[in-house]
Amino acid sequence: PMAVTINTLREYKQKGEAFAALTSYDATFAHAVSSAGVDVILIGDSLGMVLQGHDSTLPVTMEQMVYHTRAVAKGNQGALVVADMPFMSYGTTEQALNNAAELMRAGAQMVKLEGTDWMTDTISALSQRGVPVCAHLGLTPQFVNKFGGYKVQGRDEHHAEQMIEHACLLERAGADVIVLECVPAPLAARITQAVKAPVIGIGAGADTDGQVLVVHDMLGLTPGRPPRFVKNFLAESDSVQDAIKAYVDAVRRRQFPAEEHSFQA
Ligand code: KIV
Ligand code: NA
Repeated sequence: PMAVTINTLREYKQKGEAFAALTSYDATFAHAVSSAGVDVILIGDSLGMVLQGHDSTLPVTMEQMVYHTRAVAKGNQGALVVADMPFMSYGTTEQALNNAAELMRAGAQMVKLEGTDWMTDTISALSQRGVPVCAHLGLTPQFVNKFGGYKVQGRDEHHAEQMIEHACLLERAGADVIVLECVPAPLAARITQAVKAPVIGIGAGADTDGQVLVVHDMLGLTPGRPPRFVKNFLAESDSVQDAIKAYVDAVRRRQFPAEEHSFQA
């Protein structure tokens, strides 16, 4: 199959075909995930929790993101490679340009930034210089200390309208893709309709254009009680490969996420 580009994701959105994304942090997982039909691989700064054992993503450094991006790019079989910009690596536009350049040189094809209207200038600058951008809204884990915990975002109408406005602003600034994390399903549906950019949800209901999960979560490997939006696809599969294929299939058929994995208003 042909390599996935931002155009592929736009076509999916136009046709109303749901697509699957997963995280990967190394070449082996990148190979498994992309071979199983996952369209987007995210080198998430969730690696700070999943690989390093921290209780947040804040300790993750640029050097670490570059290392994992290189490994993923080596294993990837045609998925779109998106790398997270870690905490405070895009505090200023100049920092964002330098750090995004490093991730692109390491093999990323898009970078992801967490934030709202304050990122418009930075996103424009990246976009105008050839760096595709994914804007991450809703429960942005780099803001856990401002949120006072990992909480569903956009639950009241004022915040919901603000999030729709921010999504539109960031798209106008040049964001090519939007990630929505832990927002009520009806709000995610409104944002998905409001923007032309493909919207990828996690804990955002079934009506976004794509879905993403942390790969260790959907294989049931993460210790402790999983969050509501996670489903263990290995439980009903014979192998890791089959579990990833089952996830891709469930996303494409819009069977995942179900009500039980979603937040309502
Ligand atoms: O770091 C990560 O894994 C992410 C996804 C969960 C969206 O940002
Ligand atoms: Na992340």
